[in-house]
Amino acid sequence: MMRAATRLAARFNGPGVAGLHSAGGALSQRSPDVPQMPPCGFTPEEYRGMSKEQMLAIRTRACNPMTTKVTHYKKPVFVHQGHMQWLWDVDGRRYLDLFAGVATVSVGHCHPKVAAAAEQQAKRLWHTTSIYPHAPLHEYCEKLASHLPEPLQAVYLTNSGSEANDLAMLMARLHTGNFDVITLRGSYHGGGPQTLGLTSNAAYKYPIANGFGCTNTMCPDVFRGPWGGSHCRDSPVQTTRDCSCAPGHCVANEHYIGQLKETFDTSVPRRIAAFFGEPIQGVGGAVQYPNNYLKEAFQLVRERGGVCIADEVQTGFGRTGSHFWGFQGHDVMPDIVTMAKGIGNGFPMGAVVTTPEIAASFATGVHFNTFGGNPLACAIGSSVLDSIREDGTQQISLRVGTYLLTRLAQLRDKYEVVGDVRGKGLMIGVEMVKDKVSKEPLSPEAMNEIFEDIKDMGVLIGKGGVYGQTFRIKPPMCITKEDADFFVAVFDRSIHNYMDRR
Ligand SMILES: Cc1ncc(COP(=O)(O)O)c(C=O)c1O
Repeated sequence: MMRAATRLAARFNGPGVAGLHSAGGALSQRSPDVPQMPPCGFTPEEYRGMSKEQMLAIRTRACNPMTTKVTHYKKPVFVHQGHMQWLWDVDGRRYLDLFAGVATVSVGHCHPKVAAAAEQQAKRLWHTTSIYPHAPLHEYCEKLASHLPEPLQAVYLTNSGSEANDLAMLMARLHTGNFDVITLRGSYHGGGPQTLGLTSNAAYKYPIANGFGCTNTMCPDVFRGPWGGSHCRDSPVQTTRDCSCAPGHCVANEHYIGQLKETFDTSVPRRIAAFFGEPIQGVGGAVQYPNNYLKEAFQLVRERGGVCIADEVQTGFGRTGSHFWGFQGHDVMPDIVTMAKGIGNGFPMGAVVTTPEIAASFATGVHFNTFGGNPLACAIGSSVLDSIREDGTQQISLRVGTYLLTRLAQLRDKYEVVGDVRGKGLMIGVEMVKDKVSKEPLSPEAMNEIFEDIKDMGVLIGKGGVYGQTFRIKPPMCITKEDADFFVAVFDRSIHNYMDRR
């Protein structure tokens, strides 16, 4: 069994940050064997910053060792500039960014409208806190609340997703008077001392006391889990598992809900504080639950006095395409919604939105956040919401995401090592296996080879899953069908190359 730290390193690095980019890399797009990248009319600035050697030296010396550990690729990408779905490295090579700084750049790198809003606000007032009424705060809270259904109208602004989840956990405990919180295995809800207990992925755990009052239950993963079929999930692509369920009836869901009931019967007190669920698991590898799982889980949680928390850090702001929030795709109404990442298109922001009743319970003490709700963040957040509407971001997510999912499913049918393609909108996972029968995760070494090859052909994607076995595709939601075609051609070629070598 690989130790957690080694596994994390293998997932992020491959064998280690070895050499520098030499000629080739994304430049090899020009070779006739390599798929042609769609054109881009934007010209980046010429890079005049420090050398790659200098950056690597400082990275090792002055940045913390974790920075080296999480560095992607044997030959890292030294990023210089971004525009919408494109990134350029310091050598002027262009990349199609399908990972968006970990599902964070929602409307596009340096989106002109958002950049202009930031510049305007930065010139007027960068910082004051919520102790003074200021227009950007009020405009933003009202605008954000208008994107949520009643009674979710009380907005708290934070600086990150971990902070938002930390706050949500505190609110749930105060409101219910209960302590225990349940999350799904494979989930990621943050890396702070409190949220680490919610997170259920050994790679991110430390051998210290954490997670007091946090219990994980079986993840209803219809591909890798013990139960699953061919109609379980809300995605244009189903698993290749057989299923004889009658319409409207899902045996897999019954089994997974049975597991949750068993957790209630064995692992927590009769009354609990909360259940946290990502509508689609992000770091876990775009894992989707059977239809109705969250609906039934929410009911069971409420019967035990708990509140239901939707962690929309990755799934919010139109990423799932069909809805603005991931929870809406499950036809559930959470008591608390947490969000971050896409909220600020890369600006450090997060939020918790809850009901007036929960807000009232929390108002018994004083909670203060110096930067949460500062004018710059609020101006950017407002502009992101406007851009999502004006650019049709959610609609792009649905249209291009559905197209990409369907094309990737063809590669699943073509290659033995592509086990599952899943997701909704532009929240996509491709789970890699040694073979389709055993479903054993593809090794970290093989994953890294394919990952590096894809990067060398000019596309950046992510990795995730409990075993680091799933490629994650969560681009800025401004990509086009041509970009999707390019990526499919690159992915096809990289797996072909891997199969040839194997
Ligand atoms: C679903 C989910 N929740 C919470 C977090 C934590 O957010 P942050 O890294 O902004 O603290 C993440 C980060 O990846 C996430 O994916």
